[in-house]
Amino acid sequence: MTPRENPTAADPAALTALERTALLTAALRAAESSRADRLYTDPYAAGLAGAPGRELLAEIAAVTGRRTGTDGTDVPSTPDFNAIRTRFLDDRLRHLTHEHGVRQVVLAPAGLDTRAWRLAWPDGTRWFEIDRPALLGHKGRRLAGRPPQADLRTVAADLTGPDWEESLRKSGYDPARPSVWVLEGLLYYLPRDDVRRLLTRIAACSAPGSGIAADLVNTAALTLPHMKPLLSVFEGWGTPWVSGFDEPEALFDACGYTVTALQPGDEGADFGRWPDPVPPRHVPGEGRVFFVHGSLRAPR
Ligand SMILES: C[S@@+](CC[C@H](N)C(=O)[O-])C[C@H]1O[C@@H](n2cnc3c(N)ncnc32)[C@H](O)[C@@H]1O
Repeated sequence: MTPRENPTAADPAALTALERTALLTAALRAAESSRADRLYTDPYAAGLAGAPGRELLAEIAAVTGRRTGTDGTDVPSTPDFNAIRTRFLDDRLRHLTHEHGVRQVVLAPAGLDTRAWRLAWPDGTRWFEIDRPALLGHKGRRLAGRPPQADLRTVAADLTGPDWEESLRKSGYDPARPSVWVLEGLLYYLPRDDVRRLLTRIAACSAPGSGIAADLVNTAALTLPHMKPLLSVFEGWGTPWVSGFDEPEALFDACGYTVTALQPGDEGADFGRWPDPVPPRHVPGEGRVFFVHGSLRAPR
């Protein structure tokens, strides 16, 4: 156990290092919500993040503030990336539920995400939040008395463990009905084989046509010198980024999905917050973030 995995008085829910990354994400959403030009408003984020989340964000902000790169370009920051990711996924979920009739949403993992509370969802939307038990316990305590705007079902499980599908089904998930799955802020913490296994398992319990959305980084993002300060912070927390994929379309294709991969700054993933040119996919050696969205093909 690393020192950061030890429960402390400042961490009442005794979260592990990986679970604590959800505090960071909540702190990022709180910071975005206080901006005049915010891309969304999360009124719960500040309370969920608390002082521990703000401390984690301060460590990240110290190494990723918007700055000038060695080649003179303006390097966007983790907060900009995170704001775009949240808004991009908000829009995907609204589109699939309100316009395409999907009534099962699965956040895998949920972390301290509050979309079920802060956004309006169509009647009959079942909202499944999978995460580890301690994290869901912490979230439940913090949001007690605040009703969600969907039929919320929590599923305390490990997504790399043997039986989360059974727990999900027992909580009311119907694999025969269309669903949309969101894998936000997870995949780079998992080894490559675990990523493939997870996508395959999700496909196996999803109806054809079901949606999926996720964020990933490419392999260069794990090794480029200008990424080192950020990567070192995550390593120091005991939560290193361990996997990247250069061809996310191929990764998802092998698991049964047809997807589109956008980079921040691409049309549909910009929102006026990514002023830099997007490096074309064929240019080697660029660090990349991908926002992936698509759907499960019917079996042939
Ligand atoms: C960076 S947070 C992102 C959470 C959420 N999607 C969001 O955007 O706020 C990462 C989350 O992944 C969860 N997590 C990591 N590995 C997991 C696993 N194997 N099974 C279930 N949850 C996991 C952690 O508990 C944490 O809540």
